[in-house]
Amino acid sequence: MLDRFRLPRRMPRSEPELPASARTVAIIMDGNGRWARKRGLPVLAGHRAGTAALRRTVEAAPGLGIRSLCVYAFSTENWSRSDDEVRDLMDLFRHTIRTEFPQLHRQGVRIRFQGRRDRVSDELLGLMTGIEEQTAGNERLDLYVAFDYGGRAEIVDACRRLVADGVRVEEIDSAALQARLARPELPDPDLVIRTSGERRLSNFLLWQAAYAELVFTPTLWPDFDGEALRAALQEYAGRRRRFGGRAGDR
Ligand code: IPE
Ligand code: IPE
Ligand code: MG
Repeated sequence: MLDRFRLPRRMPRSEPELPASARTVAIIMDGNGRWARKRGLPVLAGHRAGTAALRRTVEAAPGLGIRSLCVYAFSTENWSRSDDEVRDLMDLFRHTIRTEFPQLHRQGVRIRFQGRRDRVSDELLGLMTGIEEQTAGNERLDLYVAFDYGGRAEIVDACRRLVADGVRVEEIDSAALQARLARPELPDPDLVIRTSGERRLSNFLLWQAAYAELVFTPTLWPDFDGEALRAALQEYAGRRRRFGGRAGDR
């Protein structure tokens, strides 16, 4: 029985027995600082362990029926942390793109970033666009990494584009705005997971999560893995989504 839950290193095949599975999942990867503090370690150790958790989670996702995964890595508000922590996070991000993402590339993961690009170093920007181009033909899993991302900023930018594109007032609708989001191709998440016990969105996917199911788990992000993802999907499978209609109509 236990063997069934052990995740192989290689991405497994989809499991046909999984019930109504979430195809698009978004994760607020929270709790790195608390994970480190509990162990008497520097915060950076928590962020590093968080990178390993991301790798485990991405590797487990396709086998659990997930097609698109969007992870919140750094918010527009996270710049307000200490200079040291921000620098460490930028260094770690560079290191992750260089050393971890090529391995995801070999496993067929397409990587795209979502968020502002004008506040990162040229070096980091080059790495980001490089891995996006390198993985553009991959089809196993779409991974969106929300970095210097904020839902409000994204909606404000979309409004600016509506004006810049000369869209007439009567032509403005959900589709017109959606088309001008940072990543219009990202499907609306079926499920948003937040780790670490906090129960809020913290400016993540405000537009896209309109009808997402929310699952909050006390697990700190560095402890998250394929099994925790499976548990969240199982909770999702027990939910009934109504999209404003009457129960049973769908
Ligand atoms: C999430 O972990 C990672 C980022 C926000 C970059 P935190 O660093 O927010 O961890 P906690 O919430 O302090 O435990
Ligand atoms: C949200 O976590 C951002 C990321 C996980 C990247 P925060 O730790 O920044 O959010 P708050 O401050 O608890 O709302
Ligand atoms: Mg936090």
